[in-house]
Amino acid sequence: MAKDWTSSGVDLHLELDPSGGRRDALERALRDAIRTGRLGPGAAVPSTRALAAQLGVSRGTVTAAYDQLAAEGYLTARQGAATRVAEIRPAEPQAPRPRPALAAAPAWAGSWATAGTVAHDLRPGRPDLGTFPASAWLRSTRRVLNTAPPEAHALSDPRGRPELRAALAGYLRRVRGVDADPERIVITSGYAQALGLLARVLADAGTSAIAMEEPGHPYHRAIVECAGLRVAPLPVDDGGARTDLLGDVGAAVLTPAHQYPAGATLAPDRRRAATAWARGTGGIIVEDDYDGEFRYDRQPVGSLQGTAPGHVVYAGTASKTLAPALRLAWTVLPAGLVEPVTEAKRLADAHTPSLGQLVLADMIDRHAYDRHVRAARLRYRRRRDALVAALRRRAPHVRVLGVAAGLHALVLLPDGGPGEEEIMARAAARDLALQPLGEFWQRPDGRPRGLVVGYSTPLQAGYPAALDALCSVLAYKPRSVRFVGPGH
Ligand SMILES: Cc1ncc(COP(=O)(O)O)c(C=O)c1O
Repeated sequence: MAKDWTSSGVDLHLELDPSGGRRDALERALRDAIRTGRLGPGAAVPSTRALAAQLGVSRGTVTAAYDQLAAEGYLTARQGAATRVAEIRPAEPQAPRPRPALAAAPAWAGSWATAGTVAHDLRPGRPDLGTFPASAWLRSTRRVLNTAPPEAHALSDPRGRPELRAALAGYLRRVRGVDADPERIVITSGYAQALGLLARVLADAGTSAIAMEEPGHPYHRAIVECAGLRVAPLPVDDGGARTDLLGDVGAAVLTPAHQYPAGATLAPDRRRAATAWARGTGGIIVEDDYDGEFRYDRQPVGSLQGTAPGHVVYAGTASKTLAPALRLAWTVLPAGLVEPVTEAKRLADAHTPSLGQLVLADMIDRHAYDRHVRAARLRYRRRRDALVAALRRRAPHVRVLGVAAGLHALVLLPDGGPGEEEIMARAAARDLALQPLGEFWQRPDGRPRGLVVGYSTPLQAGYPAALDALCSVLAYKPRSVRFVGPGH
């Protein structure tokens, strides 16, 4: 059914679809007229009486349709004035940026799925949770709750509590050589969230690809891909990431202090190549300093960010120093990224919970955090030494790499013996959880075979037994001791 109508200043042809109700058909026809511009912003619509007469519908039907469109933002209706087309049109739904489907059972979820269900756990990614500094945390919590003003429980700056940003700025300057200013720090719920926010911000600014280390953390690759970005694999060798190969990407995610998972420290020429690339192309480097506090045999290498603060995002976390379940991490941003990352954080979850932030700030200010990290460093160093000594004695054919820093070691398997799958099966038979190196590769061709051993994971009392189980799984006689793959 088609009808024409003319009314006070507005000529419009409306086609009412005869299928369905008349009110629905009228609403659809009006929406269509507004969307296509036939009824322009500010135009008065006909009176309900005139339109009802023109279309041969009841006045109530027209009134109901106008009310509905006013509620949707297409029309503005004011008492005693003509109903008009709204100046601001309701936003058209936009096609979402295509995102990759989330795998039903991604590889990186495997180690979490079975966490706590095995007798011996030597998978990487966790500190010894039995050494969480509960007393110091409790003291700081009590102090915070006794002294914080009521305002501390209100919503706060999306960047995080000023107390923690100030404490971290001092700590990171002192301990990691970071060019840190509280105004450029954003506290996030884990590094994982920081990476996701940054990926989204970079994608919105036009970046389509990010270089990520190969091998690298599969969970972090998934986060970046989820923001609609392509991951360009950046090879790794004994000198860390091949930053000399950085090319046509908008950003690069690096683990300079201790490559994850292979364990190399980024060599000085690679550090220079990384910052030269960033300066030359305007690219952004994300420095994932996940275990930078744990260096055993010499002074820690200072942050890469300290050498190029305008181009590097420094990212740290409490997941290795305290506990991953705290979900407390921090980024120090180049000035130009502060505003968009803050806005992304605000949209994600307003801000990271304040109480944990205030407690950590108190621990840092009173140097309880320093004391805890120092004690943890000593404990993990002893564990590392025990691992290296035990493997040298009982499985001399494996090669142990990446032990100068961090909480995990790369144990390479010679190609003249069992591969990862067989070792995993033998480990499972002994109720020992391990993570094969294969899970860290995006493109597994020609890669070395090995295990990423998290020696910080077991509780202290269980470490000797876990080490014994590992050694017995690896105590075999290989036919030859050659290692496959680049860089090793
Ligand atoms: C390479 C790497 N970066 C960062 C982190 C910290 O992540 P989050 O702060 O999200 O716990 C981890 C933790 O396992 C990690 O392995």
